[in-house]
Amino acid sequence: MSLLTAATEVRLRAYSPYSRFKVGAAILSVEGRVHVGCNVENVAYPEGTCAEAGAIAAMIAGGDTRIAEIAVIADSPAPVPCCGGCRQKIAEFADQGVRVTLHTTDGKSKVLTVAELLPGVFSAAHMDKI
Ligand code: THU
Repeated sequence: MSLLTAATEVRLRAYSPYSRFKVGAAILSVEGRVHVGCNVENVAYPEGTCAEAGAIAAMIAGGDTRIAEIAVIADSPAPVPCCGGCRQKIAEFADQGVRVTLHTTDGKSKVLTVAELLPGVFSAAHMDKI
């Protein structure tokens, strides 16, 4: 199954009664498996989680370690950029050249690298303790 198909399918399972905005994400891990996530909102709004965060959690829980490619899809006029927090989360598990494809449900898409998604990323290399 393609990443686009996986993200499209999981998007339909999003729990988003507050924003009414469904997002799906699918990760191909370097180990070769596909992991998916959708946004899961909460009545205490900040407790909601993004689709990308869900897919990363599924990847780690599934025993895989790194992102080889990630696709995100939403029903929006233009491809929806990942939020700032998700950019940092993706960068934790993906090399700078990894492809991030942002899709709309009506067929538009935009391809970025992780480096383009989060220039100047804060990384472990910035800490002298690691
Ligand atoms: N959302 C995502 O899941 N991923 C994104 O890249 C952008 C925003 C979710 C969070 C929230 O549930 C809803 O979309 C509206 O912000």
